[in-house]
Amino acid sequence: MHEVHREITRWIEPLGVTVHVDAVGNLRGIYPASETPASRLLIGSHLDTVPNAGAFDGILGVVLAAACLEALNGEKLPYAIEVIGFSEEEGVRFGVPFIGSRALVGRVDNDLLNIKDSRGISLRQAIQDFGLDPSQMDDAALHPDACAYLEFHIEQGPVLDKLGAPLAAVEAIAGQSKWELTFQGRANHAGTTPMNLRFDAVAAAAEWISGVEKTANGTPGLVATVGSIEAKPGATNVIAVEARLSLDVRHRDDAVRERGVDRLIHQATEISDRRHLQVRSTQHLNQPAVVMDPSLAAQVEQAIRKASCPPHRMVSGAGHDAMIIAEKIPAAMIFLRTPGGISHDPAESVIVEDVAKAIECGVHLLHQLASDTTFHPRTCRA
Ligand code: GLV
Ligand code: MN
Ligand code: MN
Repeated sequence: MHEVHREITRWIEPLGVTVHVDAVGNLRGIYPASETPASRLLIGSHLDTVPNAGAFDGILGVVLAAACLEALNGEKLPYAIEVIGFSEEEGVRFGVPFIGSRALVGRVDNDLLNIKDSRGISLRQAIQDFGLDPSQMDDAALHPDACAYLEFHIEQGPVLDKLGAPLAAVEAIAGQSKWELTFQGRANHAGTTPMNLRFDAVAAAAEWISGVEKTANGTPGLVATVGSIEAKPGATNVIAVEARLSLDVRHRDDAVRERGVDRLIHQATEISDRRHLQVRSTQHLNQPAVVMDPSLAAQVEQAIRKASCPPHRMVSGAGHDAMIIAEKIPAAMIFLRTPGGISHDPAESVIVEDVAKAIECGVHLLHQLASDTTFHPRTCRA
């Protein structure tokens, strides 16, 4: 991450951007306005990624922010632009996503700083090890002049590819729940223990996982994923004493998602009771669906049209930093077509011409906002 910060800094400093890294490890760069005082438009996305990832999820949004500034060719706008490269959006290390963007809205508290990764290292310690001071977290908060947030991101799904459309304006982002479940059984010898005398944590987990898939299949629009399984002690000839699983549940309607989660947790209890095991479940995230700012979405649509693309609108199934920043200031997202709809995998890709269209659209949007009377310098101050 230090290397990524250095590289992006090397690109944006020559454009007149002043860069610093905040207390949670977000890269922040300010491109000044033509006049002061001025409001501030944030453009960013995340710099972290998933294991065995593709090359575009997150980072493309930061690169596009830099590309839009470059395309301005030195022109200053009546508002400043803050480029942000968020840290820890994916939640891979601590099981909790959006840690970088939470710092901007004042939601990195002591409870969050005390969570631990799988090696027992706390978030607080990880921040210190990175060379930052977690006690300075308040300084990472949104600047009072921040008045809107824009995020470019790959769609990560098949919709735009099927439509043959390069870009889309995002209307809303589906909510998500993240849980960790641990089935606790009894370890024993794999060769000597008859099948009817076992308390096998992995077998219980497997039964539950099939139910997760079945429940999601039976609920229109619901997606549920067990993406991570860890068995203990993890040997071929030992019946597992423990199976630790992740659960990720999403739906555009929060009530449907919450009902789905309740049902899945209930199923886990029912399976472990029947098999005489125990199960513990811990919620890591209950993030409601978020609507993007309608007037900014309309501006994005107009900018997409000016870039000679069809103005498609869609709901995001993936989570984004925009859903956190939207708690405090109007937020908008521009999606780029993802060939084959493949993401979170090395096969993730983009079409070069779509990236060029995204830059064109971004520059149109910046100019539209510059002449928009509802987007006046400083009127948005909270
Ligand atoms: C972010 O990639 C997510 O899990 O939606
Ligand atoms: Mn991702
Ligand atoms: Mn992402």
